[in-house]
Amino acid sequence: MDRVPPVSIALWHRCSVATMARGSPYGLVEDAALVVEDGRIAWLGPRAALPAEWDAQAQARHDCGGALITPGLIDCHTHLVYGGDRAHEFELRLNGASYEDIARAGGGIASTVRATRAASEDELLEQSRVRLRALKAEGVTTVEIKSGYGLSLAEERKCLRVARRLGQEEGVAVRTTFLGAHALPPEFAGRADDYITEVLNMLPALHGEGLVDAVDAFCERIAFSPEQTARVFEAASSLALPVKLHAEQLSDSGGAALAARYGALSCDHLEWLSEEGARAMAAANSVAVLLPGAFYFLRETRLPPVDLLRSQGVPIAVSTDCNPGSSPCTSLLLMLNMACTLFRLTPEEALAGVTRAAARALGLTDRGTLAPGQRADFVLWDVARPAQLCYAIGANPRRQTVAGGLAA
Ligand code: NIG
Ligand code: FE
Repeated sequence: MDRVPPVSIALWHRCSVATMARGSPYGLVEDAALVVEDGRIAWLGPRAALPAEWDAQAQARHDCGGALITPGLIDCHTHLVYGGDRAHEFELRLNGASYEDIARAGGGIASTVRATRAASEDELLEQSRVRLRALKAEGVTTVEIKSGYGLSLAEERKCLRVARRLGQEEGVAVRTTFLGAHALPPEFAGRADDYITEVLNMLPALHGEGLVDAVDAFCERIAFSPEQTARVFEAASSLALPVKLHAEQLSDSGGAALAARYGALSCDHLEWLSEEGARAMAAANSVAVLLPGAFYFLRETRLPPVDLLRSQGVPIAVSTDCNPGSSPCTSLLLMLNMACTLFRLTPEEALAGVTRAAARALGLTDRGTLAPGQRADFVLWDVARPAQLCYAIGANPRRQTVAGGLAA
């Protein structure tokens, strides 16, 4: 006879829940109860309305002692698998060099490519694990990890394998993004079109190994042109892989409108986004991923056009952009604060940016809000109101994380 797996039903109560569902501010339910069955939310609402059957069936009861519960946080744009660091370039910038000067002189992304290639898969895993654990410690339950510091088939494979292994070993949901078109590797100097041909060879191989959930590119004057980006997107589309784009970070090259033509899940950075680009994103349902860490660390002065995104109804996500060059950041809570102070998002917009909108930026519909049927990914915080998560600088009021219904 087949064994039936045990049904696990847990009740969480004495909490308020910022469901992040639309309708009321933060989708807040005060004095709430939440029922988790087999890793999914089975019921959620005011404690007083909890049906007696759920109460009776609960095998575990968790008294949350007045905690605030939010969806598990989602960091939807990271480059957290890399070797070495770029503290020396930070010093160069403080002595007057610009990010673009350093990149053109063979530093920047290229210097991280050297350090990443020099690391074994296991060394890279351990260096990257530290960063993932820092994100986890602040309630991150889903993280996107891009490749893009390997820039050859074997090295990109190594980075993507590390990303997958981290997800398995750390109990975090990892979505991988192939960013082969991140920078020109030295062996292709002066031959960008040939390198894109090589990227097109890498993609089906890596996809065939189950290492690719989405495809990204860096469309910028120091990286790849719109035409080269389009070649990468054509290849992704032919494999039915969704695309994303580093667009309009340092200049307006029309990347967002291009990405929208391929139905991009998201366009990211966007400080130089035009009205035409925003309209195209709205029509394509693309999410705008704002990265206040990179804006801050590169001391940018041009703000992403938040009012334009709002008026066009483009969903706004917020992420760390964790990477060694433009945002050596492993705190999504700090990004909440910076999204508010630097970009003037409201705390509710910022929190939606690391939950509901971040899930959309990854094409995930089973998380980012708390409602029956959704994954039971949530965080208990020692705060009374959601805005406190955005307000504090350097605090970490996380009490407990639950991922897929299990304590994480
Ligand atoms: O998102 N813009 C391109 N990629 C990264 C920076 C990578 C680096 O400098 O290492 C970013 O800012
Ligand atoms: Fe990035």
